[in-house]
Amino acid sequence: MHVRRKLVAGNWKMNGSIAALQELSAIAAAARAASGVDVAICPPFTLIAPAAARSGGMAIGAQDCHWAASGAHTGNVSAAMLKEAGARLAIVGHSERRADEGEGDDLIRRKAEAVLATGLQAIVCVGETDEQRRSGRAIEVVTAQLAGSLPDPRGEAELVVAYEPVWAIGTGNVATPADIAEMHAAIRAHLLGRFGDAGGRIRILYGGSVKADNARELFAVADVDGALVGGASLTAAQFVPIVEAATGA
Ligand code: PGA
Repeated sequence: MHVRRKLVAGNWKMNGSIAALQELSAIAAAARAASGVDVAICPPFTLIAPAAARSGGMAIGAQDCHWAASGAHTGNVSAAMLKEAGARLAIVGHSERRADEGEGDDLIRRKAEAVLATGLQAIVCVGETDEQRRSGRAIEVVTAQLAGSLPDPRGEAELVVAYEPVWAIGTGNVATPADIAEMHAAIRAHLLGRFGDAGGRIRILYGGSVKADNARELFAVADVDGALVGGASLTAAQFVPIVEAATGA
């Protein structure tokens, strides 16, 4: 039985500004005070360097990354560039990128490999749509995404999986603890089957409408090793209680 430290990561999506870094400073202060929990904020690319300068040691991450180290890829950013800007992790395969940018499992795996090869943590996102859950295929869909988009980790602690049901993101509809427990157990079984004992050290986050008032209940679910938080990560007032709920959970 592995003891996994909880990770609460905020995904600012296409929100934020230099002025909004006041919120980040307040979050960083709370993160320093919170013991036993890892905290990260993933702002847009343009804010990574100024956020890292103010984070006081709290991890700053990116929301995406290109698979190549450099080259003719207009508009893209490499893992090495993210690292130089001060990022310690990168999210890849978020459902908004899978949907908006047509990203598939193979591309996401290559991105995750680039992130890990650069020495950053990779948070690889998976999750089913409403229609897929209604048709009873949620576990099948997520398992296929894991098989296709997870790289072989170089050090297991560097790889994190985020289960984010698409229908729960930004909707206020949270998956039930029973459904989360079932899915996280399936993900854990996949990780153990693929990586052996090392699969027990990979953290599995839940994401999708995590808020201060549901965080404690979610963190109590078996195999929920933290959260990936969108809307509620934009302000310290909403995010800090989620971090506190993870402390000692
Ligand atoms: P949400 O977003 O917390 O606003 O639902 C979660 C995510 O997309 O990571």
